[in-house]
Amino acid sequence: MKLTLSVIKADIGGYVGHSDSHPDILAQAAESLAQAQRSGLLIDYHVTKCGDDLQLIMTHQKGEENETIHKLAWDTFVAGTELAKSLRLYGAGQDLLADAFSGNVKGMGPGVAEMEIEERKSEPVIIFMADKTSSGAWNMPLYKMFADPFNTIGLVIAENMHQGFAFEVHDVKESKKITLNTPEEMYDLLVFIGAPSRYAVKAVYSRQTGEIAAVSSTQRLALIAGRYVGKDDPVCIVRSQGTFPAVGEVLEPFTLPHLVEGWMRGSHHGPFMPVAIPDSIPTRFDGPPRVTAAGFQLADGKLIGPRDMFADISFDIVREQANEIANYMRRHGPFEPHRLPLEEMEYTTMPQVAKKLEGRFSDLK
Ligand code: F6R
Ligand code: MG
Ligand code: MG
Repeated sequence: MKLTLSVIKADIGGYVGHSDSHPDILAQAAESLAQAQRSGLLIDYHVTKCGDDLQLIMTHQKGEENETIHKLAWDTFVAGTELAKSLRLYGAGQDLLADAFSGNVKGMGPGVAEMEIEERKSEPVIIFMADKTSSGAWNMPLYKMFADPFNTIGLVIAENMHQGFAFEVHDVKESKKITLNTPEEMYDLLVFIGAPSRYAVKAVYSRQTGEIAAVSSTQRLALIAGRYVGKDDPVCIVRSQGTFPAVGEVLEPFTLPHLVEGWMRGSHHGPFMPVAIPDSIPTRFDGPPRVTAAGFQLADGKLIGPRDMFADISFDIVREQANEIANYMRRHGPFEPHRLPLEEMEYTTMPQVAKKLEGRFSDLK
């Protein structure tokens, strides 16, 4: 059966500060989606959080970018914002950048990852959710899952994966896209996706079957709003097993707590720490950036799960490493490369300071 899996998320208020989500907000959102399920709009849903972001995971048969589904998400966020305001949660409605819904939540603030698929006999999917970072954070893990034989042995020894995968890359600044095939165009691909603040992997396709393997949210809030309004805190859906990487190959890239943009004031590099869903509470210096993984088996669109994939003790060592890296990076204080380069910082006082001191600069002779 044709099925659409939609993950739509927004930060509509933090508890406390930007560190977590309030349980009442999650409960209210779950009730809103339960109503939509009763009305027949949704096949199934799961509401969860990653840090201060509310995550709506929905299955339906309306296809991608469907107005009714997007309106359901938007209305749920608007109602959540009202509740967040009444609880005086921090930054209530922070990601809702438009006053009224206009057909599609894209470009309105919320993050969206959707895929329409033909559900396989058994369909394991993993939904990754991140807090305190931006959409390019998926570039390295997606590259490793689908193109790196040191991560995914299936690329080498599984007959149905040996042809490789195609990567759709978005230039988030110029609003352009390109598709590159691995393994042959691997070096060209890396030229782009190694610069994650500008180029983000939007989707990955199996070259054997043409089927979609992964999709991410690539909205950059700052580019939509033209000012800092919070980090993108992106999501990513990955299909697994069979012609796709095994669950263990999909999770393996997160054993490296690689440095991502975000953390305090969206203006630092910090280690991407894989955690169990209840541990997505970025508190230390508003971080370090977190990633969670909710695993589901789909059954005629029903979401069987989630299994909290990073709850596994085998990720404990990664968390320890991430904490060590966090300490090391923090010791750089306001210096790069802990602080982001000037053009990437989400907060800056540079224009004011430069203006104030304008007259005190003199030419080097
Ligand atoms: C990062 C983030 C936080 C805030 C910080 C200051 O994405 O959300 O680190 O930037 O707590 O927040 P404001 O400016 O709202 O006081
Ligand atoms: Mg927030
Ligand atoms: Mg957030």
